[in-house]
Amino acid sequence: MVNSCRKLNCSIYIGFYCSAIILPLICICSQFSQPTIDQFTKDPGAFPVATNGELFPWRELRLPTVVIPLHYDLFIHPNLTSLDFVASEKIEVLVRDATQFIILHSNGLEIMNATLQSEEDLRYRKPGKKLTVLSYPTHQQIALLVPEKLRADLRYSVAIDFQAKLADGFEGFYKSTYRTLGGETRTIAVTDFEPTEARMAFPCFDEPLFKANFSIKIRRESRHIALSNMPKIKTVEVDGGLLEDHFGTTVKMSTYLVAYIVCDFNSVSGTASSGVKVSVYASPDKWSQTHYALEASLKLLDFYEKYFDIQYPLPKLDLVAIPDFASGAMENWGLITYRETSLLFDPKTSSTSDKLWITEVIAHELAHQWFGNLVTMEWWNDIWLNEGFATYMELISVNATYPELQFDDDFMNTCFEVIKKDSLNSSHPISNQAETPTQIQEMFDAVSYKKGACILNMLKDFLSEGKFKTGIIHYLKKFSYRNAKNDDLWNSLSNSCLESDFTSGGFCYSDSKTTSNTLSFLGENVEIKEMMTTWTLQKGIPLVVVKQEGGSLRLRQERFLNGVFREDPEWGPLQERYLWHIPLTYATSSSNEIHKHFLKSKTDTLDLPETTSWVKFNVDSNGYYIVHYEGHGWDQLITLLNQNHTLLRPKDRIGLIHDAFQLVSAGRLTLDKALDLTRYLQRETSIPALLKGLEYLELFYHTTDRRNISDITENLKHYILQYFKPVIDMQSWSDEGSVWDRTLRSVLLKLACYLNHTPCIQKATELFSQWVESSGKLNIPTDVLKIVYSVGAQTTAGWNYLLEQYGLSLSAAEKNKILYALSTSKHQEKLMKLIELGMEGKVIKTQDLAALLHAIARNPKGQQLAWNFVKENWTHLLKKFDLGSFALRMIISGTTSHFSSKDELQEVKLFFESLKDQGVHLEIFQIVLETISKNIRWLEKNLSTLRNWLLISI
Ligand code: BES
Ligand code: ZN
Repeated sequence: MVNSCRKLNCSIYIGFYCSAIILPLICICSQFSQPTIDQFTKDPGAFPVATNGELFPWRELRLPTVVIPLHYDLFIHPNLTSLDFVASEKIEVLVRDATQFIILHSNGLEIMNATLQSEEDLRYRKPGKKLTVLSYPTHQQIALLVPEKLRADLRYSVAIDFQAKLADGFEGFYKSTYRTLGGETRTIAVTDFEPTEARMAFPCFDEPLFKANFSIKIRRESRHIALSNMPKIKTVEVDGGLLEDHFGTTVKMSTYLVAYIVCDFNSVSGTASSGVKVSVYASPDKWSQTHYALEASLKLLDFYEKYFDIQYPLPKLDLVAIPDFASGAMENWGLITYRETSLLFDPKTSSTSDKLWITEVIAHELAHQWFGNLVTMEWWNDIWLNEGFATYMELISVNATYPELQFDDDFMNTCFEVIKKDSLNSSHPISNQAETPTQIQEMFDAVSYKKGACILNMLKDFLSEGKFKTGIIHYLKKFSYRNAKNDDLWNSLSNSCLESDFTSGGFCYSDSKTTSNTLSFLGENVEIKEMMTTWTLQKGIPLVVVKQEGGSLRLRQERFLNGVFREDPEWGPLQERYLWHIPLTYATSSSNEIHKHFLKSKTDTLDLPETTSWVKFNVDSNGYYIVHYEGHGWDQLITLLNQNHTLLRPKDRIGLIHDAFQLVSAGRLTLDKALDLTRYLQRETSIPALLKGLEYLELFYHTTDRRNISDITENLKHYILQYFKPVIDMQSWSDEGSVWDRTLRSVLLKLACYLNHTPCIQKATELFSQWVESSGKLNIPTDVLKIVYSVGAQTTAGWNYLLEQYGLSLSAAEKNKILYALSTSKHQEKLMKLIELGMEGKVIKTQDLAALLHAIARNPKGQQLAWNFVKENWTHLLKKFDLGSFALRMIISGTTSHFSSKDELQEVKLFFESLKDQGVHLEIFQIVLETISKNIRWLEKNLSTLRNWLLISI
């Protein structure tokens, strides 16, 4: 897409043909990377051709900065019967340098008319001058050619009339439908713009840097309501019995945050401490599920306003549950939109993990009202400044507002999840180049969100919470209503230290000799920016290798690579030029103290007291690095866990389990060592630690089961059920206990039933029968609901009944559980039926298709089916989902990344290659291929070890 203008290779004929039209333009193109006279005459072919055959005067994907928007007056009239909209806008622009054209984004809009007025025209009420509109769809741009050149430093008003159909997908201004209790299907119209889809709804300067104010008017029927970023100021009646809502003018903001909705939803409202009115909207029959979201959003808004010491700047905040939604939620300023499962809590069917998710999503989107909306990244390459911060703030805010959710103990998993991807060579740096809409969409991935959050958490741990907080507040205040880049953040974090106390401990500027961005840390100078760029501009994760030699510890850092072994020829080259500045922490047997060391060279040495019997690095797993203990290090830690595991903190025990199994994948630790390390788990009282150990055993079970390695699968099943029997037998079928008690119950019972553990199957069957007998009225404990449904789905009658209930249920939380249960059937024709329903998009909505395919692919009976379906229906899928979208990436990785044989790898490779030939390049392809190779490698290396370990363990 980027180079399409080059590919066009305009013939000389077009060059000549166009020159007469282009010539008047040429003379004015002087500065700001506008095309110059030289460029046009020497190389007319380098300019793209507009749809009408004329040369389009702009060839870059990014807009010129000579004309900038100040204010948009936007009028929209959607028709929810004919499913289209007519609209008009007036954009007030400032011309920074003389020009004869204005380049704007516009995608799929029919432009009926465009005129221009100067300030003078406006003053004397002169009519607008008609503009010629050229369109270059490849770049989603239009050019407005002005009859007389626009003069520098003057303001102009551009008026455009346009129309379009409401979009079919999930982007731009699109339609969404829902079923009422009475079975009626109703339509609403809603926007979703991030990152580059505002241009589908109105012509605009659709880049985050072009912040402007927006005044929006929406025409609607009286049976509907309209919502937008700002509160409604007034409603006027217009011809034909229609109503027109006028909304207040927004603060300065980027186009991707503009939003409006026309619907017939109901709401609940409350007022935050600062007086901001918060409302939660849902379709009328789901209104009763909105209360938890209101409570949570009020609490979280109060929290953020205090924490950031910056008021939420709008008078209201609406949270709306949208029936068809591409992602989990979107942070539009003042009008946050959510998938129903991310906002609606139904006490009868929403589990503890559903509640945690809703709280997390609300916390995330509210954090964006500051990180993202108030201060926005300059360009999408730094989307982590939005998403990494919002993800990090989830941790801070949910811990503070809902300590009972014990979210803190779950944060490590956020880091562990991204480590899986970041330890592949196909990973990318947090700040990564992205130009085309597809590349920009691909930036919304685990690296931006999760690694971003994890390195912020590491930095907070390094600087101390107070210093970090001061720094980010400094950043938010300094860049309010503006844009920022990485360096701005690092400077703010460094300077915040300057402004606060100089004297408190070893973390702040020690004396005037240090440069302004340098902290003194344990006698060493630490440049925050220099340190942090090793985490943001370099991909991957470091491995810290520790070896105890007498009274000292030898330290070495490497790049950690999953699936590439040290003996492989590629290992060496893949290590070259990687170096991180790592804030190490460690605990030893000698004291309770947490020691710190800043490692910024390849190797280093630490002195230890002679009496030290063990050392554990990365205290509480706050650092983004993996640790390997050479020599007797691991043995000492295994002994320690077996003798008295409570000498290590729970998060350290979890970290050890995680790192040990990662090191197995990297060929650095034998599998039996890692498995031996988990033997202490029988005495483990920390549920997250227990779950971490179980997770790996379960993973191995699924891997061998998929490959039909039946002896190991059977033995693993036997081992898990025997080893965890006491704790499985302890579980009640209820919703009692703390969040972690409840999570443990869900995980254990799900696994026990999956492994056909008789008492589990019996209980679930009994509950399912009772539920069917009660015609779906019986309340089953929410944490075991999914398990009961899954067991019930194994008979044809049960499966059919569940499908029927799926169509009737008004709880998105319940529907998700039913859909999962349906996807666990062993009957391929049933699985195929689900896929067909998902493709049809009526009973099973298109928004749920990706998760459905993913779930089916995880079912050993469905893995081939799902993958074949994707291959054979690729073009159909592409019609439903954008390249680079969450959904498409999830479909690709969900249906392939569990493969673990050479044949499968070959097959996937061939398919991806055929797509590449069609011009489809996606980062996810490389990630998947590398993941499959890693799986193959793992099995080759570890299968016999696993087999033998099980033989001696059961
Ligand atoms: N800004 C994103 C929504 C988004 C995602 C826009 C992808 C464009 C592309 C929003 O803040 C977000 O991150 N949503 C998450 C939920 C969150 C709790 C992780 C999502 O949609 O999954
Ligand atoms: Zn986000």
